Amino acid sequence: MSHKHAVRRAVTSVMLAASIATAAADESSIRLTEDAGLPQVQASCSMCHSLDYILMNSPFQDKAAWEKTVNKMVKVMGAPMTADDVAAVVAYLDTHYGKGAPAAP
Ligand code: HEC
Repeated sequence: MSHKHAVRRAVTSVMLAASIATAAADESSIRLTEDAGLPQVQASCSMCHSLDYILMNSPFQDKAAWEKTVNKMVKVMGAPMTADDVAAVVAYLDTHYGKGAPAAP
C-alpha cells in the first residue's frame, strides 16, 4: 500500500469588483432644448429612468399635468428635489414639452 499525498489546494481568490456607477449616463441620444431649468431636469430626472419619459409624455401634458408628474416623482418615487428645483423643472417642461408647445426640433 502506498500512501500518496496528492493534496491539491485550490486557492480560490474571490475578487469583488466594486463597480462605481458613473454619475450621469451620457444621454446623448436624447436632446432636450437648452434653456433655464434644463440643468435641473438633467440632474433630477435622469437618475431613475431615461429622459425619454419626458418626450413620451410630452404630447398630452399641460402645466398642471407636469406639476402632478413632478410632484409624483418627488412624493411617490422619492426624487430628491427642492421646491425651487420643482418650480424650475415644471416651468421648463411646460414651456418646452407641454401640450401645445412647439414640437422640439
Ligand atoms: C427616484 C426615482 C425617480 C426620479 C428621480 C424621477 N422619476 Fe420619473 N418615474 C420613476 C418611476 C419609478 C416611474 C414609473 C416607471 C415605470 O412605470 O416604468 C416614473 C415615471 C415617469 C413618467 C411616466 C409617467 C408616470 O407618471 O408614470 C414621467 C413622465 C416621469 N417619470 C418624469 C419624471 C420627471 C420629469 C422627473 C424629474 C422631475 C422624474 N421623472 C424623476 C422614478 C423617478
